[in-house]
Amino acid sequence: MILVVGGAGYIGSHMLKLLRDENEEHIVFDNFEQGHRDALLGSPSFQGDLRNPNDLLRVFEKHPDIDVVMHFAAYISVGESVREPSKYWHNNTAGVLNLVDAMRFAKVNKLVFSSTAAIFGEPQYVPIDEEHPKSPTSPYGQTKLAVEKMLSDFDRGYGLNAVCLRYFNAAGADPSGQIGEDHEPEEHLIPVAILAALGKRPAMKVFGTDYDTVDGTCVRDYVHILDLAKAHLLAVRHLRSGGESRHYNLGNGKGFSVRQVLDTTEKVIGMPVPREDGPRRPGDPATLIASSEKISRDWGWKPEYPDLETIVSHAWEWHRGHPEGYGDHPDDVVVSRK
Ligand SMILES: NC(=O)c1ccc[n+]([C@@H]2O[C@H](COP(=O)([O-])OP(=O)(O)OC[C@H]3O[C@@H](n4cnc5c(N)ncnc54)[C@H](O)[C@@H]3O)[C@@H](O)[C@H]2O)c1
Repeated sequence: MILVVGGAGYIGSHMLKLLRDENEEHIVFDNFEQGHRDALLGSPSFQGDLRNPNDLLRVFEKHPDIDVVMHFAAYISVGESVREPSKYWHNNTAGVLNLVDAMRFAKVNKLVFSSTAAIFGEPQYVPIDEEHPKSPTSPYGQTKLAVEKMLSDFDRGYGLNAVCLRYFNAAGADPSGQIGEDHEPEEHLIPVAILAALGKRPAMKVFGTDYDTVDGTCVRDYVHILDLAKAHLLAVRHLRSGGESRHYNLGNGKGFSVRQVLDTTEKVIGMPVPREDGPRRPGDPATLIASSEKISRDWGWKPEYPDLETIVSHAWEWHRGHPEGYGDHPDDVVVSRK
């Protein structure tokens, strides 16, 4: 059985869909602070918080057949992590320490961990491969890099086998339109563009139009969420067959500029995306693109949905059916939203 920690969130809920399709037995562990019960679509869940070791002990006690853990549960806003580093270190790092300790007590030694491109910091070259120097520029990136290091220690000390998947920008949605991206607040480009077009948000700000890129705006790597989910499944198979710890970068291999994303969004949804050009934001590199050559070589992973129009149209399927997102209220949260 797979324990999906943070399974009610954006990436986690798409993982659940794939696990159901593959008849993989699983249980979600989530505090529903940012996640959505409606995103579970029938997957069983256990309400608990990573920062509470007893919640973790209870879930392992209740489900002694858990053999692999997937970890998605974290705070994800780079900007907020600068303003509130304590919140990020407690949840994103200390929370994972609680998790791997609980795994140790439960004798579970297989973990798939959601890491991030933010561990690399300013790119010294692109595409960014696994060997690229790691020098995070935000507390968010620091907390994730600290976990990667902690997991290496736990491997050496306790035989924990962990696959760290460093994704670039997760994007798109399941084409069924049943689940999608609904963060509070939403900071990711594609949903923000769609919400601006729907009049749910003010005009988009394009930060910097004078970068050395195809059209002067920043270039980023958008990887389809279903492609990410498939990589997790490959990681589970690797671990279950006795595979050792690994680190992989996961991206589309292609970058798209902010303008290309906004223009494609307009084309797909048939509505203008209100936008204003603004100055560069400090610390935004011109281009961030992943090299996924290593995972492709080792496990044959390659993105099935690399095309920007497909990514945006899948995201749109969700938003046009759910213009208010999941529409859930913060009443049932364990920890209040800031
Ligand atoms: N979204 C991206 O583009 C992206 C890119 C790189 C890495 N990541 C990483 O992927 C993971 C998932 O991202 P997402 O976009 O799905 O985030 P999300 O906020 O949608 O999902 C996170 C889930 O974890 C739960 N959670 C958070 N803290 C918890 C805690 N203490 N106890 C129990 N549950 C908790 C939330 O309620 C939510 O359901 C994160 O670790 C993030 O750092 C995301």
